[in-house]
Amino acid sequence: MSFEIRPTADLEEYGRAIFGIGQYFGAMPDEERLGRFSKVLDLERMHAARENGEIVGGAGAFAYDFSVPGGSLPCAGVTVVGVYPTHRRRGVLRAMMDAQLQDVHERGEPIAALWASEETIYGRFGYGIASWQGDVKIKREWSAFARPLERAGRTRFVTAAEALELFPPVWKALAAQRPGVFSRSPSWWELRALRLPDDEKANPKRFVSLEIDGETQAYAIFRTHSGFEAGVSNARTEVIEAIGATPQATAELWRFLLDIDWTATFEADLLPPDHPLFLLLANPRRAAFRMGDSLWLRVVDVGAALSGRAYAGVSVERRPLEARGRKRVAYRRGRGARARRGRARFRVSRRGLVRAATRVAARRGARRRCTGARRPALRLASAALVSRDLLS
Ligand SMILES: CC(C)(COP(=O)(O)OP(=O)(O)OC[C@H]1O[C@@H](n2cnc3c(N)ncnc32)[C@H](O)[C@@H]1OP(=O)(O)O)[C@@H](O)C(=O)NCCC(=O)NCCS
Repeated sequence: MSFEIRPTADLEEYGRAIFGIGQYFGAMPDEERLGRFSKVLDLERMHAARENGEIVGGAGAFAYDFSVPGGSLPCAGVTVVGVYPTHRRRGVLRAMMDAQLQDVHERGEPIAALWASEETIYGRFGYGIASWQGDVKIKREWSAFARPLERAGRTRFVTAAEALELFPPVWKALAAQRPGVFSRSPSWWELRALRLPDDEKANPKRFVSLEIDGETQAYAIFRTHSGFEAGVSNARTEVIEAIGATPQATAELWRFLLDIDWTATFEADLLPPDHPLFLLLANPRRAAFRMGDSLWLRVVDVGAALSGRAYAGVSVERRPLEARGRKRVAYRRGRGARARRGRARFRVSRRGLVRAATRVAARRGARRRCTGARRPALRLASAALVSRDLLS
């Protein structure tokens, strides 16, 4: 069975394509929701799969900048991927992934990234795990820091309108420090991070700015869920986002959150395993950290992806799709590709290549053999990578 895949042409098609996944959430594509979503995801970036003219699935891609070690790259943020249950396992997803990757390549985005609903899906399309994330559930009695914190700055609640001015610079500072952070447009901030939906009116998100030396250096978005049992509060504080531009601001912000009265449990997710909170807590084991895969990344253009890094160069041995044999090419920031002589000293899978594109540091002269996704790409500086099945 072949399916026709092309971008959506109007809001009606857009809605039916997004309903490919929307129906699994029980989210009808109403006008208000589509109007809002189309401000962050263009109609032309939403591919629809059609059978006999009927839309049976959809796959979208946001246009982002994605931070890589020492710089940033244009990235397709793959999203709202879904196939109608009437058409599952007939190749609709595969056809959409092919069309989308081709489109991403033509647009000059060297990488594509996504969060997977199921970790079993995207490896076959060339995606590999690029980062890990986890959630914590910290009981109040285990919320002490290892060392007393010398308090600094002041926290204050701000409105969504104020947050729109104050929070983005902190996010930008995070992106400059950590690979894998997406840029956020003003619409993204307004419609996704800071929007206060009607159905959450009874218990809205709250926005806190932490100012040090007169400048917002950290912010938090959180909500409390109150409750009492046997006369004792068992409230939860749900930390939706807590970002600091400096180590001091990060520590101060978490101290503020962990001190909120009545809270029995503090919950947060999307924390990287090396989050500073684990070093701040006196008993990090008690944070009940549960880890899983986070970002999945597809290298679409090897040269652009690897020379977008500011740090040590990486050389890649590639077997071009159209040719026999392999060629070895070195990538350094700003210098483009240079042909190299000799064979690769190390080999890694396509997933290893993902790690080379996103890891912070690379050590020169590493001798260890790197063969798989789980081996550290930290050692790939003067190594060579083998990869096939790339679009460029
Ligand atoms: C996941 C989903 C998009 C798959 O669509 P589909 O059209 O049935 O997939 P295809 O028929 O094109 O399958 C392509 C390949 O992916 C595999 N695959 C599909 N869904 C899978 C899943 N959930 N887990 C593991 N493998 C899966 C198929 O077995 C097939 O493998 P192969 O070609 O290597 O043999 C669809 O089931 C769906 O919409 N699920 C609910 C929403 C969802 O999870 N969306 C993904 C959001 S990140």
